[in-house]
Amino acid sequence: MSTRGAWSSKLGFILAGAGSAIGLGAIWRFPYYTGDNGGAIFVFVFLIFCFFIGYPVMIAELTLGRFTQKNPVGMFNRLSGGKKLWKGIGGLCVVNGFTIFSWYSVIAGFIIGYLYKTASGAFNTQLTNEAVDSIFSTFTSNAVNVVGLHFLIVFCTGFVVYRGVKGGIEMLSKWLMPVLFFLLVVLAIRSVTLEGAGEGLRFYMYPDFSKVSGIMVLKAMGQALFSLSLGMGTMITYGSYLSKKENVPASAAWITFFEILVCILAGFVILPAVAAMGQSYAQGPDLIFKVLPSIFAAIPGGYFFGVGFFILVVIAALTSTVSILEVPVAYFVDERKWSRRKSVLFVASIAWLIGTPAALAFGASDFLTNLPGIEWSFFDIMSTVFGEASLSVGAFFIAIFTAYIWGIRKAITDIESEGNKFPIGKIWGFLLKYIAPFTIIIVFIYTVWSIFAG
Ligand code: PHE
Repeated sequence: MSTRGAWSSKLGFILAGAGSAIGLGAIWRFPYYTGDNGGAIFVFVFLIFCFFIGYPVMIAELTLGRFTQKNPVGMFNRLSGGKKLWKGIGGLCVVNGFTIFSWYSVIAGFIIGYLYKTASGAFNTQLTNEAVDSIFSTFTSNAVNVVGLHFLIVFCTGFVVYRGVKGGIEMLSKWLMPVLFFLLVVLAIRSVTLEGAGEGLRFYMYPDFSKVSGIMVLKAMGQALFSLSLGMGTMITYGSYLSKKENVPASAAWITFFEILVCILAGFVILPAVAAMGQSYAQGPDLIFKVLPSIFAAIPGGYFFGVGFFILVVIAALTSTVSILEVPVAYFVDERKWSRRKSVLFVASIAWLIGTPAALAFGASDFLTNLPGIEWSFFDIMSTVFGEASLSVGAFFIAIFTAYIWGIRKAITDIESEGNKFPIGKIWGFLLKYIAPFTIIIVFIYTVWSIFAG
């Protein structure tokens, strides 16, 4: 194990896990999904998925990783006795690592662009909605900007992952998460006290049950898995650097708790401000870039808050990209016996190539922005297929594998080793055996059905 690296302490692990979970999923995606999918009802369904599917699957992933001390492919291979199907599921995790890393870095690059804009004073005064829109579209239709910034993120992530587990990942998380949290609280307070914010608060807090739909439920499930970093083996890989001393369910609970907290706070920052500015909730991936500038302009010392905020979001994004890249890199290091350096270079280069068309899909290329025949952009396709659908498939198989192939009993024995307590072990087994896999399947079928039923 010593050659693979390990977490230095319990707190270090929780922070690294929370660092993986907390990122653009909470700050960028959660507010816009909530805006697109009917507000509070989405939040409600999202929370249910976090508790009843996300949390149990997280315990499963961490335990599988810790037990085998392996990356997802190695883990499936060993515990299934070399079965092709399961190795294939491990392979899906590795592919997800490449693909999610590629599009995620595009948005992280946008954050750097907005950091630069804020720092150079672009948002010092209150702008009209049209002005904010045009700043965003001018920025994203510049191919050199978006591709260059995407490269920067891929490069920085590669660098951190190359330095290895302890030196890189843990250190980044340790100091900056609390500061990010503090800034979010301040921004949320400002946002909810803006004039006209009340309607946004209502939208965010009072569920309208008539808005339940198959797509909304699927999105909520995808978001729960994505924001908790599940379904692609990140937590398997992080678990593989975890010692037997640690209490897995307790660590997983902390990670889940922090992630949910940041999601909810980000909603309080963004949605009331949307109402106050008379914008539309359903703006898709552009949402935070069009709303945040106005909050900064409306806050005393907004310049510093703005700069500080974007710096922290870049770091939060990096602690997530690092955890995504770590999955394919751990695969090449462990299974193919490549050096860490070669693995990082290879994976990062491919991800940069796949990510480039996603970066150009915000106006720089008309073709990629509006793919002919479907009203989607290349980016939307990447983020839906690999940020939602394939994570659900991954989580489904991880739950099935733990429950039916490896076995709940063995898992609980491992969780309880070295005197650790797992009082809800039975409930966990039940959720993993029956609730998680079947819910995932039902949501899939229901969505397909509701698409065809119109
Ligand atoms: N959870 C991360 C975020 O919300 C994204 C992520 C997904 C990280 C899957 C690892 C695995 O930003």
